[in-house]
Formats: sequence, C-alpha cells, structure tokens
Amino acid sequence: MTQLSAAQSPAPTERKTDSSKTLYGGKGTRRITVRDITAAKERGEKWPMLTAYDAMTASVFDEAGIPVMLVGDSAGNCHLGYDTTVPVTLDEMAILSAAVVRGTSRALIVADLPFGSYQEGPVQALRSATRLVKEAGVGAVKLEGGERSLAQTELLVQSGIPVMSHLGLTPQSVNTMGYRVQGRGEEAAHQLLRDAKSAEAAGAFAVVLELVPAELAAEVTRSLHIPTVGIGAGSECDAQVLVWTDMLGLTGGKMPRFVKQYADLRGVMGDAAKAFAEDVVGGAFPAAEHAVH
Ligand code: KIV
Repeated sequence: MTQLSAAQSPAPTERKTDSSKTLYGGKGTRRITVRDITAAKERGEKWPMLTAYDAMTASVFDEAGIPVMLVGDSAGNCHLGYDTTVPVTLDEMAILSAAVVRGTSRALIVADLPFGSYQEGPVQALRSATRLVKEAGVGAVKLEGGERSLAQTELLVQSGIPVMSHLGLTPQSVNTMGYRVQGRGEEAAHQLLRDAKSAEAAGAFAVVLELVPAELAAEVTRSLHIPTVGIGAGSECDAQVLVWTDMLGLTGGKMPRFVKQYADLRGVMGDAAKAFAEDVVGGAFPAAEHAVH
C-alpha cells in the first residue's frame, strides 16, 4: 500500500472536513438540523450564531450563510423596548419566531422559552415549547439552567423537541443574579461544569455559556460531546453568538466588553433619517422622478 508522505498527507482538519457540508460556507440548501450541529462538533468545526427577531433581518443573515439563528428573549431589550428579558411573553416569542422562520430557508431556528413559560415544571415546558414548534415552526428551543432545568430538558427531548441549554449569566434571573461574570471561584466553576454535564445528560444538543471565564469555558468545551456556544466566554467554545443589534451597532449606549461591533447601523440609519427629513422640509423630496401622473 502506498504511504502518503507527511507533506502530501492532508492536515487533520482537512482530512475530516468535507467543505461542502460545513455549517458556514457549506453548499447545502436544506434546513440545518441538530444532527448537523452534532456532526460539526465531531469534525471540530466552529460556527457562528446570531439572534434575529424579524423576517427581513433573518433573511439577510440566512443569505449571508449564518447557520443557526436564535430568536432570543433579548428581543425584550433589543426589539420590544423592555428593560430586561423578564417581561417577554410566550405570545410575543411565538410571533417573532414565526417571522424569523418565514424569513429563512436554511438556518436552524432556535427560540427562547421566555421567563415563566417553563419554570413551573416539565409539563409547562412541553406545552410552551410545543407552541413554538407547531405555531412558529422553530427547529429547537432554548431554556436557562442546567441541573435546575434537568426535568424540563429531559421531557422536551424525549418528546422530540431539541433543546439548547443556557448557562453562566442567565438574564431571566437578573433579579437574583444581576449581570455579573459567573463561574468565578472553585465552587462556582464546579457547579457550572455540573450544570453543563447535566444538560448534556438530559439530552441537550448544545450549551450556551454566557459571561464565564475563558479558561472555564474551554474546560467545559473539552468535557462535553455537545457544542458550547460562547458569548463573553472566550475563544475556545465551539460556536460564538452575538445579539445582532449589538454586533451591527444598532443598540446604542455602552456595549459589554465581549461585543465586537461590525458596523454602525445606528449612525447610518440616523443619518439617512436626517437626510430624508431635510429633503422633505427643503422640498427636495419628492423630485419629479418620484411622482406619478
Ligand atoms: O436572548 C438572547 O439573545 C440570548 C443570547 C445572549 C445567547 O440568550
């Protein structure tokens, strides 16, 4: 048998990765499923996730190849004008999720179970998640908590609803937790690891790690067979998520340190609105070419 020399032999990642199948940049046009996410972890592929709350924005991200979109309850702060995620209702999530599903054809759409829609127990969680799957057409749901949401995750997964778990800073607990880095110190780090393992054992297909030390996120990532999705959790996570209005500079105000801003939509939109207003006030708009006769 002919042996390839080291120079001819493909690098380990090339050997494992068929680029036509990658989550980002892959050629597939069917909708991505949680099985594709599992396969990506197996071949060591990193992938991006963005939030989306409406059909038009989601269609832009879908065309850009973003493989997973989260209809986050961050919609509360970033879309619906609430101060926190706590007031967001299941009805609101169903409407936003359905719009995002309609705006996309390839991305896996994950919807947040909002505060109060699963904490009562597994049956309430199943009823809420079923609405998002049946009415809105999402492919998976996300819920906060590891050990504390174990029974909910188990029942959803057994019922055929894929679950993404959310650990670290869990914004629905802002009233008890605040917005602080989580998992600092030995006991807190052990608890986070236990939570992650418990989410995996319950059948979650991925775990979001929000605002946890990078070293701890790396350890969790190495310890799990399912992917970690980091936000403020360092570079070793399998995937990274950002809130789209932060990433594109629409949110305004001071951004957390972990946000990288890729555009200044707030500036672009504000300038465009002012230019329009000045045209109207000054009589430059509508011009002859905008009129019908
Ligand atoms: O609601 C949300 O946008 C989230 C992300 C921050 C992960 O949960």
